[in-house]
Amino acid sequence: MRIGVLTGGGDCPGLNAVIRAVVRKGTKVYGNEFLGFRDGWRGPLENATMPLGVEQVRGILPRGGTILGSSRTNPYATDDGGQRIRDNLAELGVDALIAIGGEDTLGAAAKLHSEGLPVVGVPKTIDNDLGATDYTFGFDTAVNIATEAIDRLHTTAESHHRTVVVEVMGRHAGWIALHSGLAGGANVILTPERPFDLDQVCEYIEERFRSQYSPIVVVAEGAVPAQAHEVTQTDRLDSFGHVRLGGIGQWLADSIEQRTGKEARAVVLGHIQRGGTPTAYDRVLATRFGLHAVDAVHDKDWGQMVALRGTDIVRVPLAEATAKIKTVPAARYAEAEVFFG
Ligand code: F6P
Repeated sequence: MRIGVLTGGGDCPGLNAVIRAVVRKGTKVYGNEFLGFRDGWRGPLENATMPLGVEQVRGILPRGGTILGSSRTNPYATDDGGQRIRDNLAELGVDALIAIGGEDTLGAAAKLHSEGLPVVGVPKTIDNDLGATDYTFGFDTAVNIATEAIDRLHTTAESHHRTVVVEVMGRHAGWIALHSGLAGGANVILTPERPFDLDQVCEYIEERFRSQYSPIVVVAEGAVPAQAHEVTQTDRLDSFGHVRLGGIGQWLADSIEQRTGKEARAVVLGHIQRGGTPTAYDRVLATRFGLHAVDAVHDKDWGQMVALRGTDIVRVPLAEATAKIKTVPAARYAEAEVFFG
């Protein structure tokens, strides 16, 4: 069998570990051949390919990014996208596709499967917001990077008696903010799930200053003030209709400084959370996803996504997995609230 592999959406530490596991097991156990598609759905849409075999995956386990490249290309941005992909795969002699991606890439995979494409999905996102899987690889790495940053920011904030606002990634879900904020001992954590009250945030900050410590506020890029609008970098949308987020950290630092009269600084962690080497946890999870994805292809179990449930890897229908994103439940947020102020 000849299997195509693509990685779509924002890159994520562990993508290369998935590719390596797919190729190593597929070659050794099932005698498969592989073809790499470049830059997500752009690859099969435009016949942009690269050789993919054991030789190409040597040494990539600890490397961040993706050797296949990635993009946010939406195959349904044009009417004939689905047909073009099916025609190109037939022309290249590709019998099956493994799509590694987040809600957008796998949403497109679900639609292509409903139109007859033999595809299996692997969930990836540092945001950990994909339904049907307990965790996605990349999340642990992002949380560790953000936690280390928060640890470092505590000491400099305290030396200067100022507030530091740390903006982390998280478009619709505050998982990175919640976990790094809890692990790093943040005094306030703000997530997209719950519009925040600026007066209340300032009260927590004053309370922290009264105890002779400096406040650290962790804010997800998609968090929204109850009294204002979402803060975005530009109005331009990507091909899946998402606006580019970012800027809430600076907005918050300015507002806090104005209201409390005490200096506040913003630090935006941005793509540092996504770049570089994956943690051991993410390498193992990504490897297990890759091994099980190639099993699903061998079983011709099309339209399925591999997922983590407890410590087991299971298969769930792509359509179900991409139906809605996994947000932070109110009870999980309440656990963190005990430490606010
Ligand atoms: O992959 C999701 C994500 O990490 C979001 O949290 C963030 O909004 C987005 O990627 C930013 O990605 P890019 O800068 O590549 O558009």
